[in-house]
Amino acid sequence: MNESVYTLPAMPAARQPGCPFDPPKELVEAREHGPISRFVFPDGHEGWLVTGYELVRAALADPRFSSRKELMRHHPLIDFGDIEVPPAPPGEFLLMDDPQHSRYRKPLAGKFTVRRMRLLTERIEQVTAEHLDAMEKAGPPTDLVTAFAKPVPAVMICELLGVPYEDRGFFQENVEKFMDGQTPDEELIAAYTAVQTYLAELVAAKRANPTDDVLSDLIEGDLTDEELRGVSLVLLAAGLDTTANMLALGTFALLRNPAQLAALRADPSLTEPAVEELLRYLTVAKTSIRTTLEDVELGGHTIAAGSAVILSYNTANRDPGRFSDPHVLDLRRQDGGHLAFGHGIHQCLGQQLARIEMRVAFAALVRRFPTLRLAVPAEEVVLRPETADIMGVNSLPVTWDA
Ligand code: HEM
Repeated sequence: MNESVYTLPAMPAARQPGCPFDPPKELVEAREHGPISRFVFPDGHEGWLVTGYELVRAALADPRFSSRKELMRHHPLIDFGDIEVPPAPPGEFLLMDDPQHSRYRKPLAGKFTVRRMRLLTERIEQVTAEHLDAMEKAGPPTDLVTAFAKPVPAVMICELLGVPYEDRGFFQENVEKFMDGQTPDEELIAAYTAVQTYLAELVAAKRANPTDDVLSDLIEGDLTDEELRGVSLVLLAAGLDTTANMLALGTFALLRNPAQLAALRADPSLTEPAVEELLRYLTVAKTSIRTTLEDVELGGHTIAAGSAVILSYNTANRDPGRFSDPHVLDLRRQDGGHLAFGHGIHQCLGQQLARIEMRVAFAALVRRFPTLRLAVPAEEVVLRPETADIMGVNSLPVTWDA
């Protein structure tokens, strides 16, 4: 029974003025019509859009919804035309199904456990403090993105992968270029190639001379050099922009909600729930896309085999059927279980690392700068367009009483 289903004609290009943290109203309206809608992709092809919490979660847990890259013929924003999409290169397991996916995820899983990540806490505190010291020394105003939100997660990924200290500048600069969604094509290709070449050399260096890091650990297994390069690229792509934008957009959201910010500053025990609530409220990784491998019943509709299905995490995380007052940022919220890290076999591998980074970073930032505020009117903070995979701000001018 596919009758009377709402159709969203296209992906909205922007959020509503004055509501930088809310999903575009067109998506919220789609969810109000029902948890599942039809969606017209830019090539004119009709697929599906899932916006309700329970159905997004169900689809993510269902192996009939595939992540395979070569099946993704329809992009929510780009008309691919007749281009054949190749399968994911070896090691790029985010865009694979099991069993291929687990060949890479399994050996990595043990490196990202809560226990392993807790051991990293001290180092994260140190890196965070170093960046706050530098901010304080340089004095106000500053761009929080370049001074804090980007470099802290970047240092942690470099250490995890074992990128030598002297290469960090080159490495970070190039990775940033292909992550910010705004670099011109030619520069983008050059940056991507430079990172690929660098990773190939890094893998060779770790094989010859293993050190104490995730990449050296992985080399002991049976992955080829090409696969190791692919795995490293996934870790970079998945771990950098996401955490950086959570830190920047999260700070912006706290500054726009002074009572919540004051509560966090007054009560450090609020840090853990605050991070979970910011994850839910902001949902910077907004959507995933899947392709059905066979006909699937979802929410009373038959999704034909081969359909493209957009799973909207940000509307799911604002579903009033799951969260009370979903559009309110409430750091004391009790109803956990957000989908900001996804769910199912692809659920974020780096979530414990991201959580610890955010807990340490937000707590230290609000403690160190009690008078932190925006250095420009809030309306002048430029949000990334909805075309960016990860929501956020590319700069956040802040100031404080020195
Ligand atoms: C706040 C920061 C982060 C957010 C919001 C986030 C979000 C997500 C989401 C939603 C997915 C699922 C994608 C899908 O199902 O298609 C994912 C997967 C993944 N994330 Fe994260 N992530 C964050 C930080 C990190 C960090 C720090 C790392 C690693 C160092 C990381 C590594 C990964 C990997 C490797 C995957 C793919 C897992 C798989 O395919 O099995 N993420 N992340």
